[in-house]
Amino acid sequence: MRGEFLSGAPEETREYARRFAAGLRPGDTVCMTGPLGAGKTEFMRGIAEVFGCGEQLSSPTFSLLNIYEGSMRGEPVELHHFDLYRLESERELEAAGFEEYLSGPFVSVVEWGEKFPSLDRSYTRRVTLAIAGERQRKITIM
Ligand SMILES: Nc1ncnc2c1ncn2[C@@H]1O[C@H](COP(=O)(O)OP(=O)(O)OP(=O)(O)O)[C@@H](O)[C@H]1O
Ligand SMILES: [Mg+2]
Repeated sequence: MRGEFLSGAPEETREYARRFAAGLRPGDTVCMTGPLGAGKTEFMRGIAEVFGCGEQLSSPTFSLLNIYEGSMRGEPVELHHFDLYRLESERELEAAGFEEYLSGPFVSVVEWGEKFPSLDRSYTRRVTLAIAGERQRKITIM
């Protein structure tokens, strides 16, 4: 799924995420862009639901990387959820040693993925969320 969509509620954002996730395959690395509170984690929740690991996401964590055990069409698929908000430099990124968790036989979703130009070549898909009102979000899926 690609295009521009207008969401009027968190549940609607998760629904767009579910439709998007249905087309993901192991090897996909998704860059998620958008300001604080745009709905990146909400969108991630919809993706995780499709992979059957939505409940693993509910615990509040502040990790840079969470790995969920999911599945798709009966096949196990790891879902890697990055949140790079707190990383401040390319040097910190390198020190974290993420490379091998970013692209491989799994699906990765990276919040604040646009922060580090060195990661640009890793992304196969891009999702941008913009705040268009209190509950309005413009979602661009490429
Ligand atoms: N249409 C909408 N889609 C998504 N979230 C919405 C919408 N309307 C209101 N919200 C609210 O906006 C907030 C989005 O929070 P979320 O944690 O998903 O943002 P985020 O982009 O991950 O922010 P951060 O950069 O802080 O991680 C939630 O509180 C959610 O309830
Ligand atoms: Mg978030």
